[in-house]
Formats: sequence, structure tokens, C-alpha cells
Amino acid sequence: MTAFPVKEFATLRTPFYYYDLALLRETLDTIQACLAEHPNYHVHYAVKANANPRILQTIAQAGLGADCVSGGEVLAARAAGIPASRIVYAGVGKTDEEINAALDEGIFCFNVESLPELEVINEMAARKQVVARVAFRVNPNVDAHTHEKITTGLEENKFGIDMTDLVDAIRQAEAMPHVAFEGMHFHIGSQIRDLVVYEHLCTRINELQDMLQQHGLQPRHINVGGGLGVDYDAPDAEPIPPFSAYFSLFARCLQLREGQELHFELGRSVVAQCGTLIARTTFVKCGHARRFVIVDAGFTDLIRPAMYGAHHFTQNLSAASDAATETYDVVGPICESSDVFSRDEVLPLTRRGDLIAFRSAGAYGEVMASTYNCRRLPEAHFSEN
Ligand code: LLP
Repeated sequence: MTAFPVKEFATLRTPFYYYDLALLRETLDTIQACLAEHPNYHVHYAVKANANPRILQTIAQAGLGADCVSGGEVLAARAAGIPASRIVYAGVGKTDEEINAALDEGIFCFNVESLPELEVINEMAARKQVVARVAFRVNPNVDAHTHEKITTGLEENKFGIDMTDLVDAIRQAEAMPHVAFEGMHFHIGSQIRDLVVYEHLCTRINELQDMLQQHGLQPRHINVGGGLGVDYDAPDAEPIPPFSAYFSLFARCLQLREGQELHFELGRSVVAQCGTLIARTTFVKCGHARRFVIVDAGFTDLIRPAMYGAHHFTQNLSAASDAATETYDVVGPICESSDVFSRDEVLPLTRRGDLIAFRSAGAYGEVMASTYNCRRLPEAHFSEN
């Protein structure tokens, strides 16, 4: 069990995110140890999962690149020390300002999601007399078997281009003097725990590569996106996701061509387990049918339960470990009925003032916080060792 410095927490204003930097470094070391076995593999950390400067700097120091989805993320990655040569930039709606800024930075690659976007990148690169490296995001129509709001690889959604349009898109890119076609990009969804899904993705990519070969085409790199999931139910049982199984699956199932590089965009699996949202119990309310633990964090601090029906492993850090238990609904203070962390949560008898920890909150937690209801954004604190 993770031991939290509860005494130290007593002096801090709640709610706040607490990041275990030692666990983050251990996670990054595990990734790097896997990559050492595959010199042609490259990991771009998906900045969208957590853009806290300390977290980004720690990731930059470990030598990972960045996967960005806005001009702001490109700048945050650069400010943290991630070299432009390791930045990929995706997104269906890149604005002129964002494309210009990314061209000025000289990023590694634009993950292009449509032909109109390709034309605009070509025009803007022409004005600057540069050549932009591009990869096409291809919709592989592989079911990620995950929550509908975070499935992206199925047909008919706003992301990427259709597989059947790929050759035509590459031909158009080749005819444009200021873009260089470099790769194919895929992303099938997030919080993927069943790795078999990635075998399906590999099969689809192998078929596409065969098809491209028949047209005399071979991308320099393949980018398989992110999506590796974490154990939200038992964060202490699996603090570091199964990276070795994940990378070796691609080594086994993906038929890379001579000289091809393989790129990954991992977000959640890098940062989820190192972060915890710490809240304080404001009131315990006993209704006729239910008991409520009302905490001072709400969906403005951690939106995943309200938005995706997610459950974060919940602990009362103030109660004695042998305390009697009770069943509660754990809720926030926001004036909306969706502001619920969990229902029927079994916790030690909880009192006003008790500290409550919502675990595995390092990914898509702090970064999705809002000031709705004129609330303060949560602060962040870090373990130093
Ligand atoms: N690459 C692309 C193109 C993506 O769209 C995403 C995530 C990633 C990489 C990183 O995926 P990861 O390794 O983190 O699964 N807010 C939601 C998750 C949204 C994911 C969006 N795209 C949540 O809290 O579950």
C-alpha cells in the first residue's frame, strides 16, 4: 500500500493533487528499459494526459518525446525541455496560428487528419520556405472495446482519413512541394486493458503495408498511438502498467519493413498511477436511505467519474486501519446531480475533516480541471524522493 504523508497533508489546502515523482521515474525507467531492446521504437508522451510543468520536466529528463494536440501543448512541451525533433502534433482542427507555430518550432511530424488540412500545411510551409513532415492518421476500424467516449478507431468519426483513401492522399502529398509524406498514424482508443485489441491493430497495419507496397509506397514510420490502460481497481497491485508485454506484442505482431521506425503516444499509462486527488470531508450526511460523504473536491477537480462513469479507488487516509466500515455515496459540492465520485463505496467510518484519496488520478485529472461555480483550480504537491 502506498504510504501517504498524512501529517504533512494536514497543513495543506484541499483539494490538491499529490504526485509521487519516484513512481513516475520508476515508470519512465521501465519504459526506457523496454525501448533499449528496440532501438527503432520511440515514445512520445501524450501531453493531454497531464501537462503539469513538473511532470513534463520529469518526462523530458527521461528522454521521451511529446504527442501534442494543440499549439499550447507544443509550447508546454518545448518549455519543459522536450526537443522539437521529438514532437508529433495531431488534431482534427489545427488553426493557422497553431500550424505556423509548429512550423516555426520545426517539429518532427504533423499527424494530418484530412486533405484540407494537408493543403493548408503545404501552403503555410511554402510561405516559410520549409518542408513539413506529415503522417496521415488512418482510421483502422478496429474496436478497442473500451468506453464509447474514448473509442476513436471505429469507422465514421471525426478522426483521421478512411483506409480506402490513403493511397490517393499519399499521392496528393507527394505532389505538394512543401510537405513530405513520412508515416501512418493510428489511435484506436484509450484505457485498453485487453492487449488482444492491439494484435488486431497490427494485423490491420500489416495488411495496409502490403497494400501500399503494391503501389510502390513505404512510409518511413508507423505511429500506433497510445491507449494502454491502467488498473483503476487496484492501483497498488499494479503501480506500473505492463509495458514489457505491450512493446513485445508489437515486436511479435507488427511486420515492420527494413529501416522503418515505430512510434507510440502513451499518456495515461505513464502518469495515471503517480497522481492522487486528496480531498477533505466537509460533512457526513445521513439520509433515510443513504449516507453521504461530502468532500471539498468535485467534478471541477476530477471529471472522470461524471464524464465517463469512471471509478477511482477511494481511501480514507485519516481513519484507523481497523476501524469499522460503512457504505457511503461519495459526492462533491457542485450544484449538479452528476457530481458523484462513487455510490455504495465501503469506507471506514468517516467523519468531518477526514482526508479522502482518489487514486490513479494522474492522467486526465488536473489537466481537465475547470473553475465552474467560480471554484479555485486544484493545487499540486509533489513527493520529492
Ligand atoms: N494519441 C491520440 C491521437 C489520442 O487521441 C490519445 C488520447 C492518446 C494518444 C493518448 O492516449 P492514452 O495513452 O492516454 O490512452 N479523458 C479521457 C481519455 C481521452 C483520451 C483522448 N486521446 C479519460 O479520462 O479517460
